[in-house]
Amino acid sequence: MRIKLKHQILLAPAAVLLLMGLLLLFLQYTYWDLSVKRRQASDLGKVFIALAEADLAAKRIQTLSLALRRNFVLNAPRLEEMDVLYGHLSSAIERTLESLEVSAEDASLLRRSVQNLDPEKGIDTERFIAALEELRPQLITLIENARSQRGKLKSLQTRNMDELVARTTLVSLVVMSTAIMLGILLSLFFSRRILRRIQLISSGASNLVEGRPTLTRTPETISDELDDLTVSLHKMAEKHIRVVGAEKLLQGAEDERRRIARDLHDQTLSDLSAILREVQELKREGCNERAERLERNLQNTINNLREVMNDLHPQTLDVLGLTAALQSHLESHQHHGEVEAHFYASQAAERLKLPKNQQLQLYRIAVEVVHNVYKHAAASRLELSLDCTDGQLILAVEDNGRGFTPDSERRGRGLYNIEERARVIGALYSFKPSRFSSGTRFELHLPLTATTPVA
Ligand SMILES: Nc1ncnc2c1ncn2[C@@H]1O[C@H](COP(=O)(O)OP(=O)(O)O)[C@@H](O)[C@H]1O
Ligand SMILES: [Mg+2]
Repeated sequence: MRIKLKHQILLAPAAVLLLMGLLLLFLQYTYWDLSVKRRQASDLGKVFIALAEADLAAKRIQTLSLALRRNFVLNAPRLEEMDVLYGHLSSAIERTLESLEVSAEDASLLRRSVQNLDPEKGIDTERFIAALEELRPQLITLIENARSQRGKLKSLQTRNMDELVARTTLVSLVVMSTAIMLGILLSLFFSRRILRRIQLISSGASNLVEGRPTLTRTPETISDELDDLTVSLHKMAEKHIRVVGAEKLLQGAEDERRRIARDLHDQTLSDLSAILREVQELKREGCNERAERLERNLQNTINNLREVMNDLHPQTLDVLGLTAALQSHLESHQHHGEVEAHFYASQAAERLKLPKNQQLQLYRIAVEVVHNVYKHAAASRLELSLDCTDGQLILAVEDNGRGFTPDSERRGRGLYNIEERARVIGALYSFKPSRFSSGTRFELHLPLTATTPVA
């Protein structure tokens, strides 16, 4: 499964936050539960007040009714008092019924007794007294009911409070320790996983920088950006190993060429020179024609051998540098066909001191391209130039021959070697139409590093 690095880093704090959030919700619920119970207790307190009010009103109504029965005159203030008392009584009873748990049957009985005390239904002392006799025991029952409810609520509340505190503490402890453990475990797991791979990548990268690439183990499944990076590093190391391999191969071939050139020089050339001296001696003594022909042939062989040696390892390159070696190569091949060859090197290019290996690879590339012009282009003009622009060395070979587009099918050993050599020195090249009416322009760009001195 692919989990982005960002998410891996955020997973541990997110898990802790989630658990903390849940804990907060739980505490909120506990607080709400507690406040509900508090409200119930306060409602019960109000019930006591209402019941006391109802009891007082009932008592007063009873006094008034008894007085009426003893033929007291019912004047307007008393009538009004009856009204007010009835109002208090009925509202107190309603408030009580709202907050106290009473069965529906008891509630309707109670209401009926209260309604029988309504002065608007007519002032009937007998009805009043009968209703009050019904109402008083009901009120007493209600008070007892309220008392027992309060008692229950109190013991429940103390028990509940204890339970609540214990439960809240336990849940908080469990959730918090789980959150902390989970956070630590998750961050340990992911940080180790990330760090281990970063260390591998970093050591792989520094090996690559130091030029001794090691192949990092590629992950079986790509699960995040670090795996992508590991795979890229692996590919880079592989490529580097290939390039270094090619470089070593080329270097080995160059060393071998240099050794052969040296052997030819030290052995064959000196032998031939000795024979030449003998022949010259012979010529001086006898002055015969055969000796003269032999001398000419030997001289030609020696010249050809020098050319072969120069091809094997151009000494001018070691002694005079790239521009001189290329110029000398062009001059020595002037006699090949009818091609008019021109050489141009800018001052910056002449002053450039490239590493030996780069010089050698550039020389070999240029020689092969020039050789191809002589061999395949059927051109009458060839221009070889070296220039420095925008921090790059530009080597160009242009001809006015028949032109060609390099395709993989027609690619021979020469073009393949050009590609290998260019890769080894980190250069880019292309074949394009030349600026003559026909022909090819080969152009190679070599980025000059800051360390390449332009003296
Ligand atoms: N300057 C050029 N003009 C025309 N054709 C060319 C030129 N350079 C290369 N070619 C073509 O590209 C082919 C491949 O060249 P190369 O790889 O050097 O192989 P080779 O020189 O051994 O034939 C040549 O056979 C030739 O057809
Ligand atoms: Mg060739």
